[in-house]
Amino acid sequence: MESPARRLRARQVFSAESGQNVELKGWVATKSSMGGLIFAVIRDGTGYVQVSAKKGVTPPDSMLAIQTATKESAVVVRGVVREDARAPGGREVSVRDFRIVSLAEPWPITKTAAASPSYLYDVRHLSIRSRKVGAAMKVRSEVVAACFDYFRERGFTLISAPTFVQAAVEGGSTLFGVDYFGKKVNLSQSAQFYEEAALASLEKVWVYQPAFRAEKSRTPKHLTEFWMVEAEQAFAGQPDNMKLQEELLAFIVKRVVENRGEELKILDRAIAVPSVPFDRVSYDEVRDIAAKEGMAFEWGEDVTTEAERLVSLAHQGPFFITDYPLSARSFYHMTYPDRPKVTMSADLIAPGGFGELATGGQRIADLALLIERIKSQDLPAEAFGWYLDLRKYGMPEHSGFGMGVERVTRWLAGLKHIRGASLFPRTMTRVSP
Ligand code: 4AD
Ligand code: MG
Repeated sequence: MESPARRLRARQVFSAESGQNVELKGWVATKSSMGGLIFAVIRDGTGYVQVSAKKGVTPPDSMLAIQTATKESAVVVRGVVREDARAPGGREVSVRDFRIVSLAEPWPITKTAAASPSYLYDVRHLSIRSRKVGAAMKVRSEVVAACFDYFRERGFTLISAPTFVQAAVEGGSTLFGVDYFGKKVNLSQSAQFYEEAALASLEKVWVYQPAFRAEKSRTPKHLTEFWMVEAEQAFAGQPDNMKLQEELLAFIVKRVVENRGEELKILDRAIAVPSVPFDRVSYDEVRDIAAKEGMAFEWGEDVTTEAERLVSLAHQGPFFITDYPLSARSFYHMTYPDRPKVTMSADLIAPGGFGELATGGQRIADLALLIERIKSQDLPAEAFGWYLDLRKYGMPEHSGFGMGVERVTRWLAGLKHIRGASLFPRTMTRVSP
């Protein structure tokens, strides 16, 4: 008597013993026939495996079912694992039983239709079934999982912060207002202020949550809703903060390279684990480099996209741009005692022109200094009431950063546009599906 079929997922077939009876559940990715043979490639959440049906081996009702099955139909297949050098991966399942669970209508994403990226995002609810999207999402999942492990190992507590907020952490121009029972509140741009409050209780905290920015620019690195990993530590200055970031990023890359090699291959991406410490290039140095290439910008302006790109292309691995002018930073940044216009802050930049991955810095801990800063920038002090209050009850030197999950995923997966790093991206022109 035949042994009962063992339920396997696609990837497990490649390590299953030849001759084993198995059951697969998945979707029909492709189908073809040759002579009296019908081949189907079945996809599930782990990968792809070929199954083949043959008259005389496969019962007639199953022959009919595999013939009838359309692309993307959901199916359950039983059969015997066979070694076959011609099959992708050297293994296939010889079909003994083929059932259609849900027959798919003709698949709308034809080769011609697929040539239009905007169409692919119009039908993102369907196009996410592609090999490359699946691979990018697995890289992203690994990035997030690595963050959980990293912070846990270092004694950081995961907290959560509200999404409905009043204060603008990163300036008023990118705030999304929402009606909150007749009152205008905003969607959170960053959990930083809540992390600063949590410090005095938990000392080292981090968050993984969505952030919202009304970005009116259409660039390959801006979403209106994205996920951010943010961390904040008490009794820690900017050098500690940069160390925390570079070790995190090196840890993430190592995990992706170790665990997502298959996916990187699908994405046609090779990435090297960076060694720490990362290079540190000061804002002033970036200005000099840019000026030599005819891309000069005024001291005090933010580093221009083209200058950042120039320096990024000259780097093999991630690096920091340090010491930004206060005029290019948010009000809460601490400045050097001997250089009051220069902040203790840095951007973590990816090589190869992928741009900024994280921003961090040391915060103002002193109440009088923070009030003075808010006044000098003409900000509404009343909007920062509780944030100021924190400075009255034991606020030590502290620092932190925020890292965009889609930015890191885009870099690691080598994606042209950041929207590919999100399952259902939100941009200025897209809120559906
Ligand atoms: O540089 P940002 O604006 O810094 C902050 O929000 C700080 N309050 C974080 C902190 O110190 N706790 O944002 C941090 C990171 C950026 O470096 C970038 O990776 C990502 O968030 N980011 C975006 N990602 C996608 N789309 C956007 N519109 C983004 N804006 C920022
Ligand atoms: Mg930034």
